[in-house]
Amino acid sequence: MLDALWPIREGLSQLSLPAVISGLSGQPTKKVRGYLRELWPPAGTSTAFLYCVTRAMTPQVIVETGVHSGGSSRVILDAVHRNGTGHLYSIDLPFHAPWTTSDGRRDATHLPAGLSTGYLVPEFLRSAWTLIEGDAKVELPSLLARLPNVDVFFHDSEHSFQHQMFEYTAVWPHLRQDGLLISDDTNWSDAFDAFCREKDLHPLKLRTAHSVYGAVRKP
Ligand SMILES: C[S@@+](CC[C@H](N)C(=O)[O-])C[C@H]1O[C@@H](n2cnc3c(N)ncnc32)[C@H](O)[C@@H]1O
Repeated sequence: MLDALWPIREGLSQLSLPAVISGLSGQPTKKVRGYLRELWPPAGTSTAFLYCVTRAMTPQVIVETGVHSGGSSRVILDAVHRNGTGHLYSIDLPFHAPWTTSDGRRDATHLPAGLSTGYLVPEFLRSAWTLIEGDAKVELPSLLARLPNVDVFFHDSEHSFQHQMFEYTAVWPHLRQDGLLISDDTNWSDAFDAFCREKDLHPLKLRTAHSVYGAVRKP
């Protein structure tokens, strides 16, 4: 029933955001409410979540897969800018037409003609950003080998079981203790739940307008 009532569902998710982020980051709920108020006009759940998590955790090293227009990158970089510290590494394999995932599903997310990956990220935020164009299957292990530990990882690239599981498994040993593994589209495959079950983790799930976010802190 709630799934059908999108604005109400979105509103309920937002009401629970400060408590959710407080639980993940260890910051008091009141402080997280302050981060939420920095977003004006009020943002959707996924934007608010990524912004407040980045503010609350003050991560030094953030890695994301799946950039497309740069919506999530921009939000994370806004928070990094406000924090005054941290760096975002983003990996994206751009598609210029609808494409098929490795498990045979059609994904319509592709770059409009004439625009490049991350076109929403303004110049003043780019000094804290490294954009790597290529397949995460190749680029993620190679990046992780070059980096110190990762504080926050955000998956939003290909959502097949095989690929999601590959990314979670690749990043986990590089994630610092108390670091956060965040995944968009945990409802596209069972990979996030299977990964958490296997590691005996108790993840948080957050309904956004279009998907279900999963987040788990590394013990
Ligand atoms: C859902 S979009 C990302 C949206 C972005 N996070 C945002 O908030 O605007 C998924 C992106 O992942 C890219 N992608 C798909 N397969 C990939 C792979 N194997 N490695 C890296 N990027 C991939 C797609 O080209 C697309 O740009």
